[in-house]
Amino acid sequence: MPLKSLMTTYRQRVNSALETWLPTPEIQPTRLHQAMRYAVFNGGKRVRPLLVYLTGSALNVNPASLDAPACAVEFIHAFSLVHDDLPAMDDDDLRRGKPTCHKAFDEATALLVGDALQTLAFYVISHDSNLQTTDKQRLEMIETLALASGSRGMAGGQAIDMDSVGQSLNIAELENMHIHKTGALIRASVKLGALACPTIDNNRLEKLDHYAKCIGLAFQIQDDILDIESSTEMLGKAQGSDIAHNKVTYPSLLGMHGAKQMADELIEDAMTSLADFDKKAEPLRWIANYIVTRNY
Ligand code: IPE
Ligand code: IPE
Ligand code: MG
Ligand code: MG
Ligand code: MG
Repeated sequence: MPLKSLMTTYRQRVNSALETWLPTPEIQPTRLHQAMRYAVFNGGKRVRPLLVYLTGSALNVNPASLDAPACAVEFIHAFSLVHDDLPAMDDDDLRRGKPTCHKAFDEATALLVGDALQTLAFYVISHDSNLQTTDKQRLEMIETLALASGSRGMAGGQAIDMDSVGQSLNIAELENMHIHKTGALIRASVKLGALACPTIDNNRLEKLDHYAKCIGLAFQIQDDILDIESSTEMLGKAQGSDIAHNKVTYPSLLGMHGAKQMADELIEDAMTSLADFDKKAEPLRWIANYIVTRNY
């Protein structure tokens, strides 16, 4: 199946799984549950769940075992976007083509949406009975996602991002920020897919982890590039937000050509890491290319 069809299949799959885990708006507190659904079902690309499914499928894992980790990473991601858009952070009004959560609801609700989606992510992995792994692997999944989301992962990267506004970072500092704020969750997505395989060995885990580290950094470089080159209509979020907020980005430090070259080199490095994997890993190669060629 070509990547486009695979993406459609897995997006539909994760969307229906997400639907089953989110409380319906009839359940109290109604407004919070409405806002949680608003933040999740607003047209995200679902790249992180796709990475969970494609990694698992490269290792012959049954898709039913991948639904829980796929939902968990998307819940963490959606929470991170709701908080990222708040006035205290990037102060953005548009997300995925619609008013940001705090605009459609209010700031207090947006904070609570983040809190609730974050804990729901861990509930899903600990609770899902379709997850066919050992308890040890389930715990390892929880540990992986917790580390990737916290102060040594995404939240830590966001803290560096906020501290760096108006500062002059060098390339190593910028890389460190991107690896944490965006790379950590993408890396966790691949690892969760691999941990769903009961027979995964350290060698393959390390190869996949290196692949994920490269595409995670490339993903944020492409996000920075699109902030300049794309349009608000295409992105579904405000084009030029980084420049408006004085953010340090790859294009601001290396120039547009340098940023694109860096993203391409990372994808080559990611491909090399997959060299020992068979045809079943082909979609992982495709999605690596998609990450740097996507236009939104
Ligand atoms: C945007 O992520 C924020 C970053 C971490 C760069 P995505 O580009 O994956 O956003 P959605 O989920 O498709 O809206
Ligand atoms: C956001 O990075 C990273 C996280 C949400 C953790 P950006 O601030 O660049 O993301 P966008 O451009 O608003 O989607
Ligand atoms: Mg931000
Ligand atoms: Mg932002
Ligand atoms: Mg951005």
